[in-house]
Amino acid sequence: MPEADISLQSWLQIGQGIGMESLKIVGGRALRGQIEIGGSKNATLPILAVSLLCPETLLLRNVPKLSDVSSMLHLVRHLGCTLQVEGKQLLLNTATITTEDAPYDIVRKMRTSILVLGPLLGRFGKARVSLPGGCAIGTRPIDLHLKGFRQMGAEISLEQGYISAVVPGRRLQGAEIELEFASVGATQNLMMAAVLADGVTCITRSAREPEIAQLADCLNSMGADVRGAGSTRIEIHGVQQLHEATYAIEVDRIQSGSYAMMVAASGGQAFLGGMNLEHLGQAREVLTHAGVEMTQYPDGVEVRAATLCPIDVVTAPYPGFPTDLQAQLMVLLSLADGRSTICEKIFENRFMHVPELQRMGADIQLEGDCAIINATPADERTHLGGAAVMATDLRASFCLIMLGLVAEGVTLVQRLYHLDRGYEDITTKLLALGADVKRGKVDAF
Ligand code: UD1
Repeated sequence: MPEADISLQSWLQIGQGIGMESLKIVGGRALRGQIEIGGSKNATLPILAVSLLCPETLLLRNVPKLSDVSSMLHLVRHLGCTLQVEGKQLLLNTATITTEDAPYDIVRKMRTSILVLGPLLGRFGKARVSLPGGCAIGTRPIDLHLKGFRQMGAEISLEQGYISAVVPGRRLQGAEIELEFASVGATQNLMMAAVLADGVTCITRSAREPEIAQLADCLNSMGADVRGAGSTRIEIHGVQQLHEATYAIEVDRIQSGSYAMMVAASGGQAFLGGMNLEHLGQAREVLTHAGVEMTQYPDGVEVRAATLCPIDVVTAPYPGFPTDLQAQLMVLLSLADGRSTICEKIFENRFMHVPELQRMGADIQLEGDCAIINATPADERTHLGGAAVMATDLRASFCLIMLGLVAEGVTLVQRLYHLDRGYEDITTKLLALGADVKRGKVDAF
Protein backbone atom coordinates (compact mmCIF):
# COMPACT_ATOMS: atom_id res chain seq x y z
CA MET A 1 0.00 0.00 0.00
CA PRO A 2 1.49 3.45 -0.88
CA GLU A 3 2.47 5.57 2.13
CA ALA A 4 -0.29 8.16 1.51
CA ASP A 5 -2.94 5.39 1.60
CA ILE A 6 -1.51 4.00 4.83
CA SER A 7 -1.81 7.34 6.59
CA LEU A 8 -5.37 7.74 5.29
CA GLN A 9 -6.24 4.29 6.65
CA SER A 10 -4.80 5.27 10.03
CA TRP A 11 -7.25 8.20 10.13
CA LEU A 12 -10.21 6.13 9.04
CA GLN A 13 -9.48 3.46 11.63
CA ILE A 14 -9.40 5.70 14.72
CA GLY A 15 -11.68 4.25 17.34
CA GLN A 16 -12.30 1.04 15.39
CA GLY A 17 -11.85 -2.26 17.21
CA ILE A 18 -10.71 -0.82 20.55
CA GLY A 19 -14.16 -0.47 22.07
CA MET A 20 -13.39 -2.79 24.94
CA GLU A 21 -10.30 -0.99 26.19
CA SER A 22 -10.11 0.50 29.67
CA LEU A 23 -7.84 2.93 31.48
CA LYS A 24 -6.24 1.83 34.72
CA ILE A 25 -5.34 4.75 36.98
CA VAL A 26 -3.39 4.69 40.22
CA GLY A 27 -4.45 7.87 42.00
CA GLY A 28 -2.50 10.30 44.13
CA ARG A 29 0.03 11.98 41.84
CA ALA A 30 -0.06 15.72 41.20
CA LEU A 31 0.17 16.35 37.45
CA ARG A 32 3.23 18.29 36.35
CA GLY A 33 4.75 18.99 32.96
CA GLN A 34 3.78 20.27 29.55
CA ILE A 35 1.35 19.08 26.88
CA GLU A 36 0.06 20.46 23.59
CA ILE A 37 -3.70 20.81 23.16
CA GLY A 38 -4.86 19.70 19.72
CA GLY A 39 -7.27 21.16 17.17
CA SER A 40 -10.91 21.68 18.04
CA LYS A 41 -13.25 18.74 17.40
CA ASN A 42 -16.35 20.92 17.29
CA ALA A 43 -14.74 23.27 14.78
CA THR A 44 -13.42 20.43 12.60
CA LEU A 45 -16.69 18.53 12.18
CA PRO A 46 -18.72 21.29 10.45
CA ILE A 47 -15.65 22.35 8.45
CA LEU A 48 -15.33 18.81 7.05
CA ALA A 49 -18.96 19.18 5.90
CA VAL A 50 -18.01 22.51 4.26
CA SER A 51 -15.91 20.56 1.76
CA LEU A 52 -19.21 19.39 0.20
CA LEU A 53 -20.04 22.96 -0.81
CA CYS A 54 -17.19 23.40 -3.26
CA PRO A 55 -15.83 21.40 -6.22
CA GLU A 56 -12.29 22.63 -5.49
CA THR A 57 -9.82 21.39 -2.88
CA LEU A 58 -9.98 22.36 0.79
CA LEU A 59 -6.73 21.95 2.72
CA LEU A 60 -7.18 21.71 6.48
CA ARG A 61 -4.36 22.07 9.00
CA ASN A 62 -4.20 21.01 12.66
CA VAL A 63 -7.00 18.46 12.29
CA PRO A 64 -7.35 16.40 15.49
CA LYS A 65 -7.06 12.61 15.21
CA LEU A 66 -10.34 11.65 16.87
CA SER A 67 -12.93 9.00 16.22
CA ASP A 68 -15.66 11.63 15.59
CA VAL A 69 -13.43 13.13 12.91
CA SER A 70 -12.95 9.64 11.48
CA SER A 71 -16.75 9.12 11.43
CA MET A 72 -17.24 12.38 9.54
CA LEU A 73 -14.48 11.41 7.09
CA HIS A 74 -16.26 8.11 6.44
CA LEU A 75 -19.43 10.07 5.71
CA VAL A 76 -17.96 12.64 3.31
CA ARG A 77 -16.06 9.84 1.61
CA HIS A 78 -19.27 7.88 1.19
CA LEU A 79 -20.76 10.96 -0.51
CA GLY A 80 -17.87 11.01 -3.00
CA CYS A 81 -15.24 13.22 -1.37
CA THR A 82 -11.64 12.20 -2.05
CA LEU A 83 -9.17 12.49 0.80
CA GLN A 84 -5.43 12.83 1.08
CA VAL A 85 -3.46 12.96 4.29
CA GLU A 86 -0.17 14.72 4.98
CA GLY A 87 0.64 14.55 8.68
CA LYS A 88 -2.08 16.51 10.41
CA GLN A 89 -3.17 18.07 7.14
CA LEU A 90 -6.15 16.80 5.25
CA LEU A 91 -6.93 17.56 1.63
CA LEU A 92 -10.59 17.16 0.72
CA ASN A 93 -11.97 17.32 -2.78
CA THR A 94 -15.62 16.97 -3.75
CA ALA A 95 -15.34 17.76 -7.47
CA THR A 96 -17.61 14.76 -7.91
CA ILE A 97 -20.37 13.80 -5.53
CA THR A 98 -21.58 10.26 -6.09
CA THR A 99 -24.68 10.37 -3.89
CA GLU A 100 -26.65 12.85 -1.76
CA ASP A 101 -27.74 10.05 0.53
CA ALA A 102 -26.28 9.82 4.08
CA PRO A 103 -27.20 6.37 5.39
CA TYR A 104 -28.21 5.37 8.92
CA ASP A 105 -25.19 3.10 9.40
CA ILE A 106 -22.82 6.07 9.26
CA VAL A 107 -25.09 8.79 10.73
CA ARG A 108 -26.05 6.79 13.83
CA LYS A 109 -22.42 6.78 14.99
CA MET A 110 -22.35 10.55 15.29
CA ARG A 111 -25.20 13.03 15.51
CA THR A 112 -23.12 15.81 13.95
CA SER A 113 -23.51 13.93 10.63
CA ILE A 114 -26.71 15.97 10.28
CA LEU A 115 -24.40 18.84 9.28
CA VAL A 116 -24.05 17.43 5.76
CA LEU A 117 -27.69 18.34 5.11
CA GLY A 118 -27.05 22.10 4.77
CA PRO A 119 -24.10 21.86 2.34
CA LEU A 120 -25.81 19.20 0.18
CA LEU A 121 -29.00 21.27 -0.06
CA GLY A 122 -27.03 24.43 -0.74
CA ARG A 123 -24.96 22.98 -3.58
CA PHE A 124 -27.22 20.32 -5.12
CA GLY A 125 -30.73 21.28 -4.01
CA LYS A 126 -31.43 17.82 -2.68
CA ALA A 127 -30.34 15.50 0.09
CA ARG A 128 -31.48 12.41 1.95
CA VAL A 129 -30.00 12.09 5.42
CA SER A 130 -30.86 9.53 8.06
CA LEU A 131 -32.38 10.93 11.25
CA PRO A 132 -29.60 10.68 13.83
CA GLY A 133 -31.58 8.69 16.40
CA GLY A 134 -31.25 8.68 20.18
CA CYS A 135 -28.49 10.21 22.23
CA ALA A 136 -27.39 9.40 25.77
CA ILE A 137 -27.34 12.98 27.04
CA GLY A 138 -30.78 14.04 25.81
CA THR A 139 -33.33 13.91 23.00
CA ARG A 140 -31.42 16.44 20.87
CA PRO A 141 -34.10 17.25 18.28
CA ILE A 142 -33.25 18.84 14.91
CA ASP A 143 -36.53 20.72 14.43
CA LEU A 144 -34.76 24.10 14.30
CA HIS A 145 -32.52 22.92 11.45
CA LEU A 146 -35.51 21.69 9.43
CA LYS A 147 -37.66 24.77 10.11
CA GLY A 148 -34.86 27.00 8.82
CA PHE A 149 -34.36 24.93 5.65
CA ARG A 150 -38.11 25.11 5.00
CA GLN A 151 -37.99 28.91 5.37
CA MET A 152 -35.29 28.91 2.71
CA GLY A 153 -37.60 27.05 0.33
CA ALA A 154 -36.71 23.38 0.88
CA GLU A 155 -39.51 20.82 0.84
CA ILE A 156 -38.83 18.34 3.58
CA SER A 157 -40.48 15.04 4.40
CA LEU A 158 -39.63 12.41 6.96
CA GLU A 159 -39.91 8.88 5.62
CA GLN A 160 -38.67 5.57 7.00
CA GLY A 161 -36.24 7.24 9.37
CA TYR A 162 -34.82 9.56 6.73
CA ILE A 163 -35.06 13.28 6.08
CA SER A 164 -35.75 13.77 2.39
CA ALA A 165 -35.22 17.33 1.30
CA VAL A 166 -35.54 18.90 -2.13
CA VAL A 167 -35.36 22.51 -3.29
CA PRO A 168 -37.71 23.32 -6.19
CA GLY A 169 -35.60 25.27 -8.69
CA ARG A 170 -32.46 23.87 -6.99
CA ARG A 171 -31.27 27.07 -5.31
CA LEU A 172 -32.29 27.92 -1.79
CA GLN A 173 -33.67 31.42 -1.20
CA GLY A 174 -32.33 33.82 1.42
CA ALA A 175 -34.63 34.15 4.43
CA GLU A 176 -35.05 35.83 7.81
CA ILE A 177 -34.59 32.99 10.31
CA GLU A 178 -35.07 33.57 14.00
CA LEU A 179 -33.97 30.58 16.05
CA GLU A 180 -36.06 29.76 19.12
CA PHE A 181 -32.89 28.64 20.88
CA ALA A 182 -29.27 29.49 20.07
CA SER A 183 -28.54 26.00 18.75
CA VAL A 184 -24.94 25.47 17.66
CA GLY A 185 -25.79 22.77 15.11
CA ALA A 186 -28.77 24.64 13.62
CA THR A 187 -26.73 27.86 13.25
CA GLN A 188 -23.93 25.94 11.48
CA ASN A 189 -26.21 23.91 9.22
CA LEU A 190 -28.24 26.95 8.11
CA MET A 191 -25.13 29.08 7.65
CA MET A 192 -23.56 26.49 5.33
CA ALA A 193 -26.79 26.14 3.32
CA ALA A 194 -27.18 29.91 2.96
CA VAL A 195 -23.73 30.47 1.49
CA LEU A 196 -24.85 29.40 -1.99
CA ALA A 197 -28.48 30.60 -1.69
CA ASP A 198 -30.04 33.36 -3.77
CA GLY A 199 -30.08 36.59 -1.79
CA VAL A 200 -29.39 37.37 1.85
CA THR A 201 -30.12 35.11 4.83
CA CYS A 202 -30.25 36.51 8.35
CA ILE A 203 -30.00 34.14 11.29
CA THR A 204 -31.01 35.83 14.52
CA ARG A 205 -30.59 34.44 18.04
CA SER A 206 -27.72 32.55 16.41
CA ALA A 207 -25.25 30.61 18.54
CA ARG A 208 -22.07 32.56 19.39
CA GLU A 209 -19.63 29.72 20.09
CA PRO A 210 -16.08 30.35 18.78
CA GLU A 211 -16.61 27.36 16.47
CA ILE A 212 -19.31 29.37 14.64
CA ALA A 213 -16.81 32.16 13.97
CA GLN A 214 -14.27 29.58 12.81
CA LEU A 215 -16.79 28.09 10.41
CA ALA A 216 -17.51 31.57 9.02
CA ASP A 217 -13.77 32.28 8.66
CA CYS A 218 -13.29 29.05 6.74
CA LEU A 219 -16.29 29.76 4.47
CA ASN A 220 -15.11 33.33 3.86
CA SER A 221 -11.63 32.10 2.95
CA MET A 222 -13.40 30.04 0.26
CA GLY A 223 -15.15 33.12 -1.15
CA ALA A 224 -18.35 33.14 0.92
CA ASP A 225 -19.78 36.36 2.36
CA VAL A 226 -20.71 35.66 5.98
CA ARG A 227 -20.92 38.64 8.36
CA GLY A 228 -21.48 38.85 12.10
CA ALA A 229 -20.53 35.29 13.09
CA GLY A 230 -19.85 35.28 16.81
CA SER A 231 -22.76 37.66 17.42
CA THR A 232 -26.48 36.88 17.76
CA ARG A 233 -27.19 38.02 14.20
CA ILE A 234 -25.41 36.46 11.26
CA GLU A 235 -25.92 37.79 7.76
CA ILE A 236 -25.03 35.56 4.84
CA HIS A 237 -24.94 37.05 1.34
CA GLY A 238 -25.28 34.20 -1.13
CA VAL A 239 -22.52 33.78 -3.74
CA GLN A 240 -22.49 31.78 -7.00
CA GLN A 241 -19.68 29.42 -6.01
CA LEU A 242 -16.80 28.83 -3.62
CA HIS A 243 -13.14 28.24 -4.44
CA GLU A 244 -10.19 26.32 -3.02
CA ALA A 245 -8.73 27.40 0.30
CA THR A 246 -6.44 26.48 3.19
CA TYR A 247 -7.69 26.71 6.74
CA ALA A 248 -6.03 25.95 10.09
CA ILE A 249 -8.29 24.58 12.85
CA GLU A 250 -7.91 26.43 16.18
CA VAL A 251 -7.03 24.77 19.46
CA ASP A 252 -9.86 22.97 21.28
CA ARG A 253 -11.28 25.16 24.06
CA ILE A 254 -13.13 22.27 25.72
CA GLN A 255 -10.02 20.10 25.90
CA SER A 256 -8.12 23.14 27.20
CA GLY A 257 -10.64 23.71 29.99
CA SER A 258 -10.78 19.98 30.75
CA TYR A 259 -7.02 19.64 31.21
CA ALA A 260 -6.83 22.90 33.19
CA MET A 261 -9.35 21.49 35.67
CA MET A 262 -7.62 18.12 35.73
CA VAL A 263 -4.25 19.67 36.60
CA ALA A 264 -5.82 21.86 39.30
CA ALA A 265 -7.82 18.95 40.77
CA SER A 266 -4.61 16.94 41.09
CA GLY A 267 -2.93 19.81 42.94
CA GLY A 268 -0.28 20.14 40.23
CA GLN A 269 1.07 22.68 37.78
CA ALA A 270 1.39 22.38 34.02
CA PHE A 271 1.79 24.27 30.77
CA LEU A 272 -1.01 23.70 28.26
CA GLY A 273 0.49 24.55 24.86
CA GLY A 274 -1.84 26.31 22.43
CA MET A 275 -4.53 27.09 25.02
CA ASN A 276 -6.19 30.48 24.58
CA LEU A 277 -8.07 31.95 27.55
CA GLU A 278 -9.97 34.29 25.22
CA HIS A 279 -11.94 31.33 23.92
CA LEU A 280 -13.17 30.14 27.32
CA GLY A 281 -15.93 32.75 27.69
CA GLN A 282 -17.35 32.78 31.23
CA ALA A 283 -15.65 29.46 31.95
CA ARG A 284 -12.49 31.52 32.50
CA GLU A 285 -14.07 33.38 35.46
CA VAL A 286 -15.75 30.25 36.80
CA LEU A 287 -12.49 28.31 36.80
CA THR A 288 -10.62 31.23 38.34
CA HIS A 289 -13.23 31.56 41.12
CA ALA A 290 -13.08 27.83 41.73
CA GLY A 291 -9.34 28.10 42.32
CA VAL A 292 -7.74 27.27 38.97
CA GLU A 293 -4.92 29.77 38.44
CA MET A 294 -4.30 30.40 34.75
CA THR A 295 -1.67 32.68 33.19
CA GLN A 296 -1.74 33.34 29.46
CA TYR A 297 1.55 33.29 27.54
CA PRO A 298 1.88 33.75 23.76
CA ASP A 299 2.12 29.99 23.18
CA GLY A 300 -0.21 28.64 25.86
CA VAL A 301 -1.38 28.80 29.44
CA GLU A 302 0.35 27.96 32.70
CA VAL A 303 -2.12 26.29 35.08
CA ARG A 304 -1.68 25.76 38.78
CA ALA A 305 -3.98 24.90 41.65
CA ALA A 306 -4.77 27.53 44.24
CA THR A 307 -7.17 26.78 47.09
CA LEU A 308 -10.25 25.23 45.51
CA CYS A 309 -13.48 27.12 46.36
CA PRO A 310 -17.15 26.16 46.09
CA ILE A 311 -19.28 28.03 43.52
CA ASP A 312 -22.74 27.95 41.92
CA VAL A 313 -22.83 27.52 38.17
CA VAL A 314 -25.51 27.22 35.49
CA THR A 315 -24.66 25.88 32.04
CA ALA A 316 -25.65 28.15 29.16
CA PRO A 317 -24.91 28.76 25.49
CA TYR A 318 -21.61 30.58 24.82
CA PRO A 319 -20.32 32.80 26.33
CA GLY A 320 -22.01 31.12 29.31
CA PHE A 321 -20.45 28.15 31.08
CA PRO A 322 -20.45 25.25 28.57
CA THR A 323 -22.35 22.04 29.17
CA ASP A 324 -19.26 20.31 27.72
CA LEU A 325 -17.26 21.30 30.85
CA GLN A 326 -19.99 20.54 33.38
CA ALA A 327 -18.91 17.01 34.36
CA GLN A 328 -15.27 18.07 34.76
CA LEU A 329 -16.29 21.05 36.94
CA MET A 330 -18.30 18.69 39.14
CA VAL A 331 -15.17 16.73 39.97
CA LEU A 332 -13.21 19.90 40.68
CA LEU A 333 -15.94 21.13 43.02
CA SER A 334 -16.03 17.73 44.74
CA LEU A 335 -12.59 18.72 46.01
CA ALA A 336 -13.48 22.31 47.02
CA ASP A 337 -14.24 22.85 50.68
CA GLY A 338 -18.00 23.59 50.94
CA ARG A 339 -21.29 23.33 49.06
CA SER A 340 -21.51 24.01 45.33
CA THR A 341 -24.35 23.69 42.84
CA ILE A 342 -24.30 23.03 39.12
CA CYS A 343 -27.52 23.37 37.11
CA GLU A 344 -27.56 21.78 33.65
CA LYS A 345 -29.82 23.77 31.33
CA ILE A 346 -28.74 22.56 27.89
CA PHE A 347 -29.28 18.79 27.90
CA GLU A 348 -31.85 17.02 30.07
CA ASN A 349 -29.91 13.87 30.81
CA ARG A 350 -26.34 14.98 31.31
CA PHE A 351 -25.76 13.79 34.88
CA MET A 352 -25.03 10.14 34.11
CA HIS A 353 -21.56 10.51 35.58
CA VAL A 354 -23.04 11.30 38.99
CA PRO A 355 -23.78 7.70 40.11
CA GLU A 356 -20.24 6.71 39.06
CA LEU A 357 -18.68 9.64 40.96
CA GLN A 358 -20.82 8.69 43.99
CA ARG A 359 -19.43 5.17 43.79
CA MET A 360 -15.98 6.66 44.19
CA GLY A 361 -17.09 8.52 47.31
CA ALA A 362 -18.10 11.94 45.96
CA ASP A 363 -20.96 13.56 47.92
CA ILE A 364 -23.33 14.72 45.17
CA GLN A 365 -27.14 14.88 45.28
CA LEU A 366 -29.38 15.45 42.32
CA GLU A 367 -32.44 17.69 42.52
CA GLY A 368 -34.08 17.97 39.09
CA ASP A 369 -31.63 19.58 36.73
CA CYS A 370 -29.30 20.66 39.54
CA ALA A 371 -26.49 18.81 41.28
CA ILE A 372 -25.55 19.72 44.83
CA ILE A 373 -21.94 18.98 45.61
CA ASN A 374 -20.74 18.85 49.21
CA ALA A 375 -17.03 18.69 49.73
CA THR A 376 -14.88 18.62 52.81
CA PRO A 377 -11.21 19.59 53.11
CA ALA A 378 -8.79 16.91 52.03
CA ASP A 379 -7.71 16.05 55.61
CA GLU A 380 -11.34 15.57 56.75
CA ARG A 381 -12.56 13.82 53.63
CA THR A 382 -14.15 10.50 54.49
CA HIS A 383 -13.00 8.63 51.47
CA LEU A 384 -12.47 9.16 47.79
CA GLY A 385 -11.50 5.74 46.62
CA GLY A 386 -10.73 4.22 43.24
CA ALA A 387 -13.35 1.90 41.70
CA ALA A 388 -14.27 0.22 38.46
CA VAL A 389 -16.47 2.76 36.68
CA MET A 390 -18.26 2.96 33.38
CA ALA A 391 -17.83 5.88 30.98
CA THR A 392 -21.24 6.93 29.67
CA ASP A 393 -20.40 9.76 27.30
CA LEU A 394 -17.44 11.77 26.08
CA ARG A 395 -17.11 14.43 28.78
CA ALA A 396 -18.27 12.04 31.53
CA SER A 397 -15.35 9.76 30.64
CA PHE A 398 -12.89 12.57 31.25
CA CYS A 399 -14.41 13.47 34.61
CA LEU A 400 -14.07 9.87 35.81
CA ILE A 401 -10.37 9.95 34.94
CA MET A 402 -10.04 13.25 36.82
CA LEU A 403 -11.43 11.76 39.99
CA GLY A 404 -9.44 8.56 39.48
CA LEU A 405 -6.23 10.63 39.45
CA VAL A 406 -7.11 12.09 42.85
CA ALA A 407 -8.80 9.11 44.55
CA GLU A 408 -6.91 6.65 46.68
CA GLY A 409 -6.04 3.35 45.00
CA VAL A 410 -6.91 2.00 41.58
CA THR A 411 -9.65 3.22 39.25
CA LEU A 412 -10.61 1.35 36.12
CA VAL A 413 -12.48 3.47 33.59
CA GLN A 414 -14.27 1.17 31.17
CA ARG A 415 -15.79 1.85 27.72
CA LEU A 416 -12.95 4.14 26.76
CA TYR A 417 -14.18 4.48 23.18
CA HIS A 418 -16.27 7.48 24.30
CA LEU A 419 -13.04 9.27 25.16
CA ASP A 420 -11.49 8.74 21.72
CA ARG A 421 -14.33 10.78 20.24
CA GLY A 422 -12.93 13.99 21.72
CA TYR A 423 -9.57 13.63 23.50
CA GLU A 424 -6.62 12.97 21.24
CA ASP A 425 -3.82 10.77 22.61
CA ILE A 426 -5.03 11.12 26.17
CA THR A 427 -2.88 8.31 27.58
CA THR A 428 0.27 9.87 26.11
CA LYS A 429 -0.70 13.26 27.56
CA LEU A 430 -1.41 11.83 31.01
CA LEU A 431 1.90 9.99 31.02
CA ALA A 432 3.68 13.20 29.98
CA LEU A 433 2.13 14.87 33.01
CA GLY A 434 3.42 12.13 35.28
CA ALA A 435 0.16 10.25 35.87
CA ASP A 436 0.27 6.56 36.71
CA VAL A 437 -2.02 5.22 33.96
CA LYS A 438 -2.16 2.28 31.62
CA ARG A 439 -4.52 1.63 28.74
CA GLY A 440 -5.54 -1.79 27.51
CA LYS A 441 -7.94 -4.70 27.75
CA VAL A 442 -9.12 -5.33 31.32
CA ASP A 443 -7.73 -8.86 31.45
CA ALA A 444 -4.26 -7.53 30.54
CA PHE A 445 -3.98 -5.51 33.78
C1 UD1 B 1 -23.06 21.31 20.06
C2 UD1 B 1 -21.73 20.68 20.39
C3 UD1 B 1 -21.82 19.93 21.70
C4 UD1 B 1 -22.32 20.84 22.79
C5 UD1 B 1 -23.62 21.53 22.35
C6 UD1 B 1 -24.13 22.57 23.34
C7 UD1 B 1 -20.68 20.10 18.29
C8 UD1 B 1 -20.28 19.02 17.36
N1 UD1 B 1 -21.38 19.72 19.34
O1 UD1 B 1 -24.01 20.27 19.91
O2 UD1 B 1 -20.51 19.49 22.02
O3 UD1 B 1 -22.59 20.07 23.93
O4 UD1 B 1 -23.42 22.19 21.11
O5 UD1 B 1 -23.21 23.59 23.48
O6 UD1 B 1 -20.36 21.27 18.12
N2 UD1 B 1 -32.18 21.91 20.15
C9 UD1 B 1 -33.50 21.84 19.77
N3 UD1 B 1 -33.79 21.76 18.43
C10 UD1 B 1 -32.82 21.76 17.48
C11 UD1 B 1 -31.48 21.82 17.88
C12 UD1 B 1 -31.18 21.89 19.23
O7 UD1 B 1 -34.40 21.84 20.59
O8 UD1 B 1 -33.15 21.69 16.28
C13 UD1 B 1 -31.84 21.97 21.59
C14 UD1 B 1 -31.19 20.67 22.09
O9 UD1 B 1 -32.13 19.72 22.46
C15 UD1 B 1 -30.38 21.15 23.26
C16 UD1 B 1 -29.94 22.53 22.83
O10 UD1 B 1 -30.82 22.93 21.79
O11 UD1 B 1 -31.18 21.27 24.41
C17 UD1 B 1 -28.48 22.60 22.39
O12 UD1 B 1 -28.33 21.94 21.21
P1 UD1 B 1 -27.27 22.41 20.10
O13 UD1 B 1 -26.70 23.73 20.48
O14 UD1 B 1 -27.92 22.27 18.78
O15 UD1 B 1 -26.16 21.34 20.32
P2 UD1 B 1 -25.40 20.54 19.20
O16 UD1 B 1 -25.17 21.42 18.01
O17 UD1 B 1 -26.06 19.22 19.00
